[in-house]
Amino acid sequence: MSKDFFEQNKNWWSRLPEGSGRRRVETLMKYPDWWLKFKYKRFKKFWEHERGWEYEKYSVMFKDRDVLEIGGGLGNDGMTYAKTARSYTYAEIKNVQLEFLKRITALFNVHNAKFELMDSITHQFPNSYNAFLAHGVLHHVPFEVAKVEFDNIDKYLLPGSKAVFLMYPKQRWEASNKPSFEEFGKFTDGGCPWAEYYDETKMKDLVGPGYVLDNTKLWGEGNIEFVNFEFTKRA
Ligand SMILES: C[S@@+](CC[C@H](N)C(=O)[O-])C[C@H]1O[C@@H](n2cnc3c(N)ncnc32)[C@H](O)[C@@H]1O
Repeated sequence: MSKDFFEQNKNWWSRLPEGSGRRRVETLMKYPDWWLKFKYKRFKKFWEHERGWEYEKYSVMFKDRDVLEIGGGLGNDGMTYAKTARSYTYAEIKNVQLEFLKRITALFNVHNAKFELMDSITHQFPNSYNAFLAHGVLHHVPFEVAKVEFDNIDKYLLPGSKAVFLMYPKQRWEASNKPSFEEFGKFTDGGCPWAEYYDETKMKDLVGPGYVLDNTKLWGEGNIEFVNFEFTKRA
């Protein structure tokens, strides 16, 4: 099952969130540099409005750290955090996404970004990290797949690492009349293969006893659109 969902996501996630809508990364890659930069600056305005509180908080949390982000999408979160981080590694599941991230970070002069193509949910990373971000990512595979994926990532996170996860809250799933997780994606991401809700209990099960939950924050539309879980890995 794990392979199926990873493969399905590879096929589906060319349409990446650009804030108010979704863009095919292959289409963006066809733009000339000047037009891509112009369009991207407009997407940035939306992200900065939507995620401004995260940018403020996590730029401080990730300061001077080696950050690993999985599923960075169109990359603006990473470009924001790279300004204060020591290094910033984008790990994505499709080559074209990484090609896009290489291009956009170069266009905006981000010099401490690294890139990693994940070949599977048990991908071997080349380094260790002391911060981790999965922003709208691990809820797109079934819990048991996400668990295998995070157990593997955990091997590369040093004691004291900060780990931030944006998930869909249970309240949003309830407000959508509790659809199956195959259906829930229709309410959240334009019909992606899988979207699953998380609450604190499930989230703690995902990361395991090696992590302390520092903070849970519901936010977004109606205060139930997203939930951020912030953890520290025990020393
Ligand atoms: C909803 S988008 C989120 C993009 C970005 N983080 C954001 O907040 O705008 C989901 C991202 O996760 C990636 N993805 C999907 N399944 C994944 C998995 N199992 N492991 C790592 N990345 C995954 C997709 O390629 C896509 O970039």
